[in-house]
Amino acid sequence: MGRAFVYVILGGGVSAGYAALEFTRRGVSRGELCIISEEPVPPYERPALSKGCLLPETPARLPSFHTCVGANEERLTPKWYKEHGIELVLGTRVKSADVKRKTLLTAAGETISYKILIIATGAQALKLEEFGVSGSNAENVCYLRDLADAERLVNVMQSCAGGNAVVIGGGYIGMECAASLVINKINVTMVFPEAHCMARLFTPKIASYYEDYYKSKGVKFIKGTVLSSFDMDSNGKVTAVNLRDGSRLPANMVVVGIGIRPNTSLFEGQLTLEKGGIKVNGRMQTSNSSVYAVGDVAAFPVKLFGETRRLEHVDSARKSARHAVSAIMEPKKTDDFDYLPFFYSRVFALSWQFYGDAAGEAVHFGDYSGSTIGAYWISKGHLVGSFLEGGSKEDYEAIANATRLKPAIKDLTELERQGLGFALTI
Ligand code: FDA
Ligand code: NAD
Repeated sequence: MGRAFVYVILGGGVSAGYAALEFTRRGVSRGELCIISEEPVPPYERPALSKGCLLPETPARLPSFHTCVGANEERLTPKWYKEHGIELVLGTRVKSADVKRKTLLTAAGETISYKILIIATGAQALKLEEFGVSGSNAENVCYLRDLADAERLVNVMQSCAGGNAVVIGGGYIGMECAASLVINKINVTMVFPEAHCMARLFTPKIASYYEDYYKSKGVKFIKGTVLSSFDMDSNGKVTAVNLRDGSRLPANMVVVGIGIRPNTSLFEGQLTLEKGGIKVNGRMQTSNSSVYAVGDVAAFPVKLFGETRRLEHVDSARKSARHAVSAIMEPKKTDDFDYLPFFYSRVFALSWQFYGDAAGEAVHFGDYSGSTIGAYWISKGHLVGSFLEGGSKEDYEAIANATRLKPAIKDLTELERQGLGFALTI
């Protein structure tokens, strides 16, 4: 048995939702487009899972955060897909793909064929077992990638109010979940191997600003070590976390955020891979011209830096998806993707944005004992990255604009003196 579509989007996450909206804007006909997703619900704004969804009071729940509300666009509910004649094949895992035959085989045994495929499979959370620690399946150990994980995390949090949580990992998930746990009145200890939090992006000075803020909210940090094992009770629940430095932390729950792996396995040996993802050109087209890749799984050329990058952030998922659809539906009118990397986070009352590349030497500005802090990154004599906490809409637009212009910087001391003013006046 099988069905055939002109366009198939494999994966039903952020980029799938933005691609679907773009297809309808560019005039896809009823019955031409299908989205296949392992998740039981249509595409939603994944960032809500570590923020609004975890709030103790009036938490965000579907359908409120279906795509594309994150970019202030239309909200695509199940009804919307029906009205637009888009086939949603939900709760369905694709278990193999054949790019020569242009077919996908689902776990339910259906063959779905396409003329054009968009791979939007995102990524999966790395498991502790990959670092030699067992216990990931314990009922009070939580990961956070999809809606089911978020629902589980909420239940575990509610069952240990006033208790102790250990957060493993000092990246995005660790920082955002630690803040949410504190808001839910749970005592938090964060454990990570690096010398400071958010080591992939933050300088030590930026990190210490956030760590001090977290400490003022009661969060404890144990840095430079990793966990070695869990203590379990007779029901298989974790009761404590043992660290490699010999210490033991009693725990009512554990949240793990130790990075991700892009979901490329269906295409290994069939498409060219790079940087852990599927390599695409400036049209988001893979090494097979009928197959496109977008979002976390795509390694694409970032024109501004003359380099191929794979980004794991929502803005890139949204824009790469739209770009792929534009390249598919209006190839002559579509130039190569020209993307300025944009990352952001919101925790407690804090909110930051980052544009560009955190490469080269950092120049800090702002009041590191106050509420507005920032930094520029200078590489090979040019400004290539900008970070700002606590800015206004105009401030963020200014640092984005300055970063895109990549201005030459001769005097770092003068740049430091001008601070945000440099971006505002350029
Ligand atoms: P995404 O992961 O959204 O979707 C992939 C889809 O493919 C899923 O529905 C999955 O089930 C499906 N799939 C995979 N394999 C399949 C198969 N074989 N068969 C069928 N379906 C399959 N970024 C940011 O910039 N700011 C933020 O604040 C946050 N916050 C945030 C919070 C949390 C909790 C997470 C997990 C992530 C973020 N992010 C973020 C990152 C952002 O959400 C991420 O970059 C995008 O979701 C990527 O979109 P994709 O569509 O590529 O993958
Ligand atoms: P991450 O890459 O941000 O951080 C991984 C962290 O794991 C590292 O900082 C390190 O501290 C830790 N780590 C690595 N090995 C470890 C080990 N053996 N033991 C303990 N800790 C170890 O990944 P994440 O925080 O898991 O986030 C997952 C994905 O979700 C990423 O793609 C991220 O971009 C995305 N996300 C983004 C946002 C945002 O942009 N605001 C928010 C949430 C999630």
